[in-house]
Amino acid sequence: MKQMIIEGNNTLTGKIKIGGAKNSAVALIPASILASGISQIDNVPNISDRDALIDILNILNCNVDIKGDQLKIDTTNLRNTSIDEKYSKKLRASYYFMGALLGKEKYVEMCIPGGCNIGARPIDIHIDGFKALGAKVKIENNKYILQADKLIGTDIYLRFQSVGATINLMFASVLAEGKTVIHNAAKEAEIENIANFLISMGANIEGAGTDKIIITGVKELYGGKITVLPDRIEAGTYIILGALVGKNLCINNIIPKHIESLTSKLIDMDSDITINEDNIVISKVDHLKPTNIKTLVYPGFPTDIGQPMSVLLTQANGTSLFEETIWENRMGHVPSLNKMGANITVKNMSAMIIGPSKLHGCEVIATDLRGGAALVLAGLTATGTTIVNDVEHILRGYENIETKLRNVGAKIEIKEI
Ligand code: EPU
Repeated sequence: MKQMIIEGNNTLTGKIKIGGAKNSAVALIPASILASGISQIDNVPNISDRDALIDILNILNCNVDIKGDQLKIDTTNLRNTSIDEKYSKKLRASYYFMGALLGKEKYVEMCIPGGCNIGARPIDIHIDGFKALGAKVKIENNKYILQADKLIGTDIYLRFQSVGATINLMFASVLAEGKTVIHNAAKEAEIENIANFLISMGANIEGAGTDKIIITGVKELYGGKITVLPDRIEAGTYIILGALVGKNLCINNIIPKHIESLTSKLIDMDSDITINEDNIVISKVDHLKPTNIKTLVYPGFPTDIGQPMSVLLTQANGTSLFEETIWENRMGHVPSLNKMGANITVKNMSAMIIGPSKLHGCEVIATDLRGGAALVLAGLTATGTTIVNDVEHILRGYENIETKLRNVGAKIEIKEI
């Protein structure tokens, strides 16, 4: 088990370079098996979710060559074997092997996926879509078995704009016969990035990034190439950090348009923020105005930035509301924040946050990835020492967090206990 020790209340200044987006990379890696040959993915973040997916590729007899942030994945000797719970449970994104293997091999055996404890996380929309394309789906002993004689393109309407289902159904349909139209598709920037990878392999996809994606099946895909787009959630987390304890903290290598829902809120709060072409510079101010945030699908306020943002709301002058609409269980970090001196009352999926509160260091537990990141922000804002337990959750999604924060002046250390 790993523990993070933070000496807080230091002003942070300098540059934090944002890496490739976790939620794009975790789909791009499984997507590589749709191609015959070698694919190249650049700007892959060095996070534990990457390694968990590479382990699955190795089980499938694919060869992965890692050089810095570049992956070369050779699927020439792909062997379609059952993916056991030991591997599938490590992360949510293991389910992208369902769509990819179904598309390529028309057969998948995979145990249920894992992931953060932020809600029930059903996959019925994915399964309904696979069935619409012609797959038969059985669940035996916690294992999904998906099989199709052939997959035939069709119209699929998603009852919710699910990110994962949109991606999985692109995977399952790129090699299907005829045309698939995904209606009410998720529009996240990552989806366009993933579609561009498939297009580089020879797939025929139009409309990715809108709510109607049209895929015309092709017979075969060949090794493709893509650069992972910058991580808007990692960027958002550090931008909020700048508003908490920054002095001209520069978050660079980003696409500011992808986080306008956050930056417009920060402007409403009267923060000191400058938005440039590929970076944002932000400093702490004495009086932040309170605000209300409600998480929504893209391009609304991202659910993955709600928890870090709740820390900033503890420092605003007055009452703010944080309403979560995507996941039922996004308030796991609140007891820890209250233990550190925050004044937050949770009712169902909403939190009322009364600020400003003086936060003080103490021992807390990361219950999930973004909740854990919120506690790191709180620890860096608080006076005294904060000990964050179960840091593994955070390392799933934030590459080199210790080094990135130390480089801008944070006193932070990760220890094995
Ligand atoms: N949903 C269903 N049935 C489904 C699929 C989803 O009911 O078959 C529900 C979910 O329970 C949830 C909502 O629909 O209430 C949204 O789920 P979605 O499928 O969009 O989420 P996801 O694909 O499982 C991805 C990210 C999450 C991010 C969400 C929303 C990955 C690996 N995960 O999850 O990221 O919160 O989209 O933007 O891409 C994170 O990075 O910390 C994280 C949790």
